[in-house]
Amino acid sequence: MTPEPETPLNNGVLLDGDEKATAVRDMFDRIAPRYDRVNRIMSFRLDVRWRRTAVAALGLARKSVVLDLACGTGDLCEDLRREQIHPIGVDFSMGMMKARRTDAQVLQGDVLQLPIPNNAVDGAICGFAMRNFTNLEAFFAELARVTRPRGRIAVVDASSPENRVAKFGHHIYFDKVVPWVGGVLSDKSAYSYLPASLAYLPPTSELMDIVRDAGFSDATRRELTLGAAQLITATKD
Ligand SMILES: C[S@@+](CC[C@H](N)C(=O)[O-])C[C@H]1O[C@@H](n2cnc3c(N)ncnc32)[C@H](O)[C@@H]1O
Repeated sequence: MTPEPETPLNNGVLLDGDEKATAVRDMFDRIAPRYDRVNRIMSFRLDVRWRRTAVAALGLARKSVVLDLACGTGDLCEDLRREQIHPIGVDFSMGMMKARRTDAQVLQGDVLQLPIPNNAVDGAICGFAMRNFTNLEAFFAELARVTRPRGRIAVVDASSPENRVAKFGHHIYFDKVVPWVGGVLSDKSAYSYLPASLAYLPPTSELMDIVRDAGFSDATRRELTLGAAQLITATKD
């Protein structure tokens, strides 16, 4: 019997479809207890700043209801609450849900099939998860379905800088240092998948077409911290 893949990167090849989704869920179940600590160390706490930038970019009023998609341990739920926005988290990893540090409402579910009615929320946010999905068209279509007209979305994720010098420094850190440090602090296979997972994302112009085609106008993409992260925002038509 072939052993189950430890991560969505199997012998150097990225899995796709249901195999990828299962491997992603199992991987996050496994690394959940150490996820937050390793994140802060690896990103030099920049992940905290990037999430807060994403919440601010939503530009929604207090008391708005916002989905935190693939919420993990709930950092974005807490950031939304700090702005007096009401969060509802959704994630499919029980391990991440158990390790959460928020008492916001959290639902177990797949972000590609949200247990939420049409036009039900004022906005949606998603942090550092897009690379792990299996169908970006379906993801943005779900965002468009559940967000009310003129509602807002913000999707923040890792990225690779476009500037050549920044790209080189990023390559050394992300592709070499991160898997090594991840191996020492948590799980080598998971932190080897992390840099490899960027390859799932299509080129920027294609990604922005997916967002617009799903039913969002004024879609914009910003590079954060020299392009180590990216923030996509848009308004539902
Ligand atoms: C890198 S973590 C990000 C967690 C959190 N958003 C943050 O900012 O730290 C990715 C999360 O995406 C979740 N995830 C990946 N694919 C998913 C899917 N299709 N449906 C629900 N959750 C998913 C994983 O379980 C994991 O908790």
